Amino acid sequence: MSAIGRMACSISHDMRHSLTAIYANAEFLERHDICASLRADLLLEIQQAVLAMTERIDSLLKFGSGRKSSLVHARVSLVVEKAVAAVKFHPDGQKVSITVGKLSPAEADIDARNLESAIYNLLLNACQAAARSTQVPEVKVHLTEVDERIYVTILDNGPGIPASVRRTLFDPFVTAGKPNGTGLGLTLARQIAEEHGGSVSLEESNRERTIFTLSLTKSRSLPLEDLKSGRAASKPTAMDLRTALKESN
Ligand SMILES: Nc1ncnc2c1ncn2[C@@H]1O[C@H](COP(=O)(O)OP(=O)(O)OP(=O)(O)O)[C@@H](O)[C@H]1O
Ligand SMILES: [Mg+2]
Repeated sequence: MSAIGRMACSISHDMRHSLTAIYANAEFLERHDICASLRADLLLEIQQAVLAMTERIDSLLKFGSGRKSSLVHARVSLVVEKAVAAVKFHPDGQKVSITVGKLSPAEADIDARNLESAIYNLLLNACQAAARSTQVPEVKVHLTEVDERIYVTILDNGPGIPASVRRTLFDPFVTAGKPNGTGLGLTLARQIAEEHGGSVSLEESNRERTIFTLSLTKSRSLPLEDLKSGRAASKPTAMDLRTALKESN
């Protein structure tokens, strides 16, 4: 029951973001000055968002009926690309330039929908922060692999994590500076990463930039002690990540 509760919470959280995007598109469609092709694109986006939400609800029903959701071996870059496309559909993602750097072709055992949701939450936070930058708002995404681990790095040029939430960032219902924030995005992203043998960590945050990294383990068949102790691979440093992000430009 507790697993179903966690899943329902995660799905409701994602649906709030999808509904915001659908509402924005519906408002746009009301305008009389938009051309037929833009109208068709907006409708298609609404249809895709509804299908994605239906798929998420189906996965909850499937889980509730006792059928376990299984991890599938797949290319992580495809999930990153889907998350980027989805966040561009959210009103807060439309004002920001999102650059996708080099994406390693790494494959891993993943629950693609959940992983997309975790990356989406980090990207949306980054876009919301970048929108408050004094520079042109920018978000960069990068995917690297080191031995058995895969790292998705997300950098934004926003004003950094507010001091009031720095220590409790990953706790549920911790939010600051957002009128409609529930404070669950980071909690859920970390939970999903942990289910993939990894984690989410804040690498760096100052007035000019913030870097978050989501890590996961390629194969879930590695011994648990190796995953927990990080013996499966050495972690790249914040400096490695910054260099990689610069090179990807
Ligand atoms: N990239 C970032 N730059 C600056 N602050 C951030 C960043 N990411 C997260 N934060 C801060 O951490 C808080 C918690 O983030 P979290 O994603 O958990 O919740 P939220 O974004 O407020 O709400 P939601 O549940 O809709 O995601 C945010 O309210 C924000 O203040
Ligand atoms: Mg958030």
